[in-house]
Amino acid sequence: MELISVREARTEQAIGKSVELRGWVRTRRDSKAGFSFIEVNDGSCLGNIQVIADGKLENYETDVKGLTVGASLRVEGQVVASGGKGQATEVQATRVIAVGGADAESYPLQKKQHTLEKLREWAHLRPRTNTFGAVARVRNQICRSIHQFYQERGFLYVHTPIITASDCEGAGEMFQVTTLDLATIAKREMANIDYKFDFFDRPSYLTVSGQLEAETYACALGKVYTFGPTFRAENSNTSRHLAEFWMIEPEMAFFELPDNMQLAEDFLKRLFRDVLEHCQEDMAFFNERIDESKTLIERLQKIVNADFVRLSYTEAVDILLACDHKFDYPVKWGMDLQSEHERYLTEKHFDSPVILYNYPRIIKPFYMYCNDDGKTVRGMDVLVPGVGEIIGGSQREHRLDVLLERMAEMQLSADDYWWYVDLRRYGTVPHAGFGLGLERVIQFVTSMGNIRDVIPFPRTPGSCDF
Ligand code: 4AD
Ligand code: MG
Repeated sequence: MELISVREARTEQAIGKSVELRGWVRTRRDSKAGFSFIEVNDGSCLGNIQVIADGKLENYETDVKGLTVGASLRVEGQVVASGGKGQATEVQATRVIAVGGADAESYPLQKKQHTLEKLREWAHLRPRTNTFGAVARVRNQICRSIHQFYQERGFLYVHTPIITASDCEGAGEMFQVTTLDLATIAKREMANIDYKFDFFDRPSYLTVSGQLEAETYACALGKVYTFGPTFRAENSNTSRHLAEFWMIEPEMAFFELPDNMQLAEDFLKRLFRDVLEHCQEDMAFFNERIDESKTLIERLQKIVNADFVRLSYTEAVDILLACDHKFDYPVKWGMDLQSEHERYLTEKHFDSPVILYNYPRIIKPFYMYCNDDGKTVRGMDVLVPGVGEIIGGSQREHRLDVLLERMAEMQLSADDYWWYVDLRRYGTVPHAGFGLGLERVIQFVTSMGNIRDVIPFPRTPGSCDF
C-alpha cells in the first residue's frame, strides 16, 4: 500500500494502485443502495477525490455515517477509473478510519458560500476553502519561482535585519521596537525618553525595506536579493496596503536604470509564466470564479508575450494633462501620482504594464541617483492593471559629493548613515535595485480584490487577530 496525495490519486497513472489517503471531508452523500460517497480534500490540489465507502465496511454504521463536513479521516483502498463527470478516478475504500470529528452544528464552513469578508473572521479555517487553498498554492509557487529566478542568475540570497535604526524610505512610517516600560513612562509623565535605558541604546524600529543593507552586500558580492517581511505603520485602509507584508529586493552592482527596468520586466514575466504553467487548475478556478470578466488567463498570457511600456514621469504627466478623464486630484508636474492616475495609464491608456521612470527629485527618497537636469532622479515604478504599483526601485546615488549634498538637502545626518556613505568612499560603483511587493503580485495573478485575502493572517490598522 502506498501513501499518496489526492493530487496523485486523481491522475490516471494511479489507477489500479492500492493506496492510503489522508485528508478532510468536503461532503458526504449516502446512496439508497447502501453505500456512501465521500469527497475528500487534502490541500494538495483544488479538486477532491471521491471515495466510495461500501455499507459492508465493518464500521460503516458507527463511523462512516458519522463523517460530517470538516472531519478528518484516513482511507485505504483501490484507485479505479471513474465513470463520474469531471473526475478520472475514484477510490473504492477497503477501510475508512475516522480520525477527528467536526461538530455539524457549530462548524462554520458548512456547504453554504460565505463572503470573503466573513471568512476573514475565520482566518484559522479559511485555508480549508477552495479559494484560500488556491491562494496558498499560488503563493507557494510564486515564492519558489522567485528563488529559482535569482538563483539561476547567480544572485546571492542575503538576510537583511528586521530591527533597524534607519528609515530607508524617509516616510517616518515605522513601528518602534522598545523594551522600555510604557506604563512607567506614562506614570512619570516623562517629556523626554532616555533611550540609554532602551534595549539598543537608541530608538529602533521594524524595517520598512532591506535596501540600504542589501546595497552593502551588492557592493561586495555583485548581485544579491533579499526576501523578507517588511513593516509599515501607514494608516492606509485600502485594498492594497498591509502593515506587514513581504518584499523581494534585488540589488546589483555595475547596474544602471535601463538594466534595472529590464530585470524587473523579466522577473515579473517569469512569475506569471510559472503560475500559468504550474498552477493550471488553480488558475482556471481564479479565471472562472474570481475574475469578473473571466479573462485573467488570457490577460496574463498577453502580458508575458509583449513588451512593457516604458515612459518617463514627464511624458506620463503630459498624457494625463491631455486626456479628458476627470481625476479627483488634478495633475501637475512635480506631484506624486495618485493611484487613480497610475491606473488610468496602465488600465485605460496603455492596457499594459507600464514602467514609469525619472521622477521629480522632491518627491523621492535621498538614495536615488540625481539626473543632470537638476530636477529628476532615476527612480522607477512598475504599474500593472487592476493593482497599480507593484514594484518600486531606482538607480542609487553612488557619487559621494552628490549623496552628501542630497542628504543635507533632506536634513538627514551623514553621521547616522556613515556606513552607507562609506560605500561611496571605497570602491564606489553605479548600482541599482528594486522592491516587489509579494502580496501585490499575488493579487495581480489571482485577481483577488483585497490584499487581506492573499496573506494568511493580515495585519492592518486596528486589526491584529490570530
Ligand atoms: O516602493 P517601495 O516603498 O520601495 C522600497 O521600499 C525600495 N526601498 C525598494 C528597493 O528599491 N529596494 O516599496 C516596494 C513595493 C511597492 O511597489 C509595493 O509593491 C510594495 O512594496 N508595498 C506594499 N505592499 C503591501 N502593503 C504596503 N503597505 C506596501 N508598501 C509597499
Ligand atoms: Mg513606491
